[in-house]
Amino acid sequence: MTTYTSTWLCPSNIALVKYWGKKPEQLPMNPSLSFSLKLARTRTTVSLQAAKSMKLEFLFEGKESPFATRIEKYLDKLSIERPWINDYAFQIASENTFPHSTGIASSASAFGALALCLEDLSRQITGVENDDDKFFQAASRLARMGSGSASRSVYGGFAWWGKSNALPGSTDCYAVPVSKQIHKSYFSLCDAVLLVDSKKKKVSSSAGHELMNNHPYQAARLKQVNSTIEQLMRFMKEDGNRMAFIDLVEQEALSLHALMMSSTPSFLLLKPGSVAIIELIREFRQQTGLPVGFTIDAGPNIHLLYWREDQEAVHAFIKGELLYHTENGEWLDDQVGDGPLKA
Ligand code: PMV
Repeated sequence: MTTYTSTWLCPSNIALVKYWGKKPEQLPMNPSLSFSLKLARTRTTVSLQAAKSMKLEFLFEGKESPFATRIEKYLDKLSIERPWINDYAFQIASENTFPHSTGIASSASAFGALALCLEDLSRQITGVENDDDKFFQAASRLARMGSGSASRSVYGGFAWWGKSNALPGSTDCYAVPVSKQIHKSYFSLCDAVLLVDSKKKKVSSSAGHELMNNHPYQAARLKQVNSTIEQLMRFMKEDGNRMAFIDLVEQEALSLHALMMSSTPSFLLLKPGSVAIIELIREFRQQTGLPVGFTIDAGPNIHLLYWREDQEAVHAFIKGELLYHTENGEWLDDQVGDGPLKA
């Protein structure tokens, strides 16, 4: 019996410039920029056994999971370009190194890990070897087809997804690594995830992206986001712009929420606790002069961004003032990570 197996650990990522709105085939309306996290990761093993047609058994943390339906659809779609998928029974086992409730995007690490396994298995089955750059490019493309933000998770450090004249070589098809263009001080950025509310999202990502299709501010959003990503990359080339970097990252996150509030239907995802934390962070920055800010995904949880050298002061601030506004005092302290690992 022919069997193949592959195991990968893939990080989640936090976007500094958000992907919001898509064109058909899961292509982004705008370029986005993120860094991979170090601790928040998904570990996935895919084992294949020859079969008459594709079958799937999916276990998440040892149990059956509704995510199986999404994976089955994903494999079906991929089988058009990777016909070998139809010749195997898939056993997929996956687990996260972080609790579900932290508000960290698990679809990015989940599809990142799965795509890396599939690209690896493709190589084993077809015998076609790629160099590393091509391998990660192909894995990023496969990850994108599962979840757009996952395309950025297959790289360590910083990644950019989406075609832009500001970055030669950028494309909508897969993310590209941009760490080499970023000053080393940005690699000590930390992300303290403050869990304000762990309830299921009010709006799924795919419904959220759809809200951009006829959004009255679509043209203004595209203009603003293209200028933001260019400016951020310029700031990050050297280490003299931390405050300007923070201001722009916050503005971008609040733009995402402003778009959701002004969509039809309208969504207000921030909670009183989110707003309290935002205000306290801004006060702390003013009082201390430290470059500390926030970003927010499509939910109420706040990602506090700070530099590692300021950790002591920031941890004291979190414990003394912010945890009161979180759900059960929960938070997760993460930082820029090195990217995926083959187990
Ligand atoms: O990859 P998706 O479809 O779950 O979209 C992610 C959207 C944001 O997390 C809000 C922004 C981003 O770029 O990660």
